[in-house]
Amino acid sequence: MLSQEQNELMCRVGPGTPMGDAFRRFWIPICQTSDVPTPDCNPFPIEILGQKLVVFRNTDGDLGVLDQFCPHRRASLAIGRCEGNGIRCLYHGWKFAVDGTVMETPNVNDPDFKNRFKAEAYPVREAGGLVWSYLGPRLLQPDFPHFPWFDAADSNRLNVYALNHCNYVQALEALVDSSHLNILHADGLVASGQLQNLNFAAAAEMTFDAAPTIEVDDTDFGFHYAAIRGGNDQDGNGAQHVRITAFSNPCFIANPNEDLWMCIVPINDEKCIHFHVWWHAERPMGEEPLRSRMLTHVGLDDDALRAYNMTYDTFDDPGRPSLRNRFKQDRDKIRNGSFSGFHSFTQEDSAVNISPGPIKDRSKEILAPVDMAVSRLYRSLISAANAVQQEQEPIGVHADQMKIFGRNATIPHDEDWRSLVPSHQITRRYRPVRLGRGVEDHSHDH
Ligand code: FES
Ligand SMILES: [Fe+2]
Repeated sequence: MLSQEQNELMCRVGPGTPMGDAFRRFWIPICQTSDVPTPDCNPFPIEILGQKLVVFRNTDGDLGVLDQFCPHRRASLAIGRCEGNGIRCLYHGWKFAVDGTVMETPNVNDPDFKNRFKAEAYPVREAGGLVWSYLGPRLLQPDFPHFPWFDAADSNRLNVYALNHCNYVQALEALVDSSHLNILHADGLVASGQLQNLNFAAAAEMTFDAAPTIEVDDTDFGFHYAAIRGGNDQDGNGAQHVRITAFSNPCFIANPNEDLWMCIVPINDEKCIHFHVWWHAERPMGEEPLRSRMLTHVGLDDDALRAYNMTYDTFDDPGRPSLRNRFKQDRDKIRNGSFSGFHSFTQEDSAVNISPGPIKDRSKEILAPVDMAVSRLYRSLISAANAVQQEQEPIGVHADQMKIFGRNATIPHDEDWRSLVPSHQITRRYRPVRLGRGVEDHSHDH
């Protein structure tokens, strides 16, 4: 469905690439608060959009995001010392503040030397259990966004992330792909239906229909779509079950379960971070026992993540999931009744996402009508890359995230699902089309 050139344009995110430039117009999560929990804690090395960075917290508790390599002779600041409100390079002791100011250069006699340059530092914020940074041009820096779950108490919010050995689009497109849920995740959905007090029961209702109708609209933040099931009893009057997902550029997903927000951040072209945030006004998702029940059910508990090499300390182990070990699939489990042979949702998604290779060849994909949202995702990302190349702003840079929601509801057959998301500003509608026709062909302006 995409040419090789379009695929490359969409997937490559390093410095100076069109998509990389588009990403760099947004504030994006780079790690969790829990990765840098206390003043002068261990510096946390990361790679984001192909840039190696270090996150650290100074003595006052302020966060800094610096180029990971010391501006002197490039030792990694990941092994530096956090002390006296700065980070000190281990090699010759140069010390930097959170904003990159050079505080000390003990091996240089000239006291003015340190005033002539700064370490490369990036704007940073902390909100909703996440550390956010803006890696783009300073003059174009947008206001820091505010997401609905920023206002949830820590006790009622659950943050967790998993690492994947695949390009970010492969992880992202699975989040706008309603029709895999009751196939790939068949084992987990059955169990979900038996869970009390977790929102999975809503998703479990879908097991009756593997081929929902998909309707997509472009919006002023990206796009939203509805997966519609039912509404087709003998009289054509049955209630319709709709699940609305909102995609906000460049990588934010408001899930139809309403209590889940996700985000896929590229580490580089071939690796990504999958951030999850659950929150609920009444349920203490961030506290035991709910926290562990939730994480264990979806395969995001520490044991499951480590078993599949989805944590930083296990990510690059030689025995990580690969084609040779069938991504750690358990074929005996299949013989004994499991559909997928994987541990849970997280491992199932990861296996199918990384199995095509780090950057899949989309010129060989055959998209079906049910993939309409996947197709919109590709178009939305490519539009963002094109916009930046043409010195325009990508859609969504200034989106009001408080107005962007996922929804899960049963409504009368003649009601328009768009009434469930009145705050979404629709800019263009797309009609469902029959197999064999390009999903873009039958669109019309709204
Ligand atoms: S390399 Fe960092 S102080 Fe010399
Ligand atoms: Fe999935």
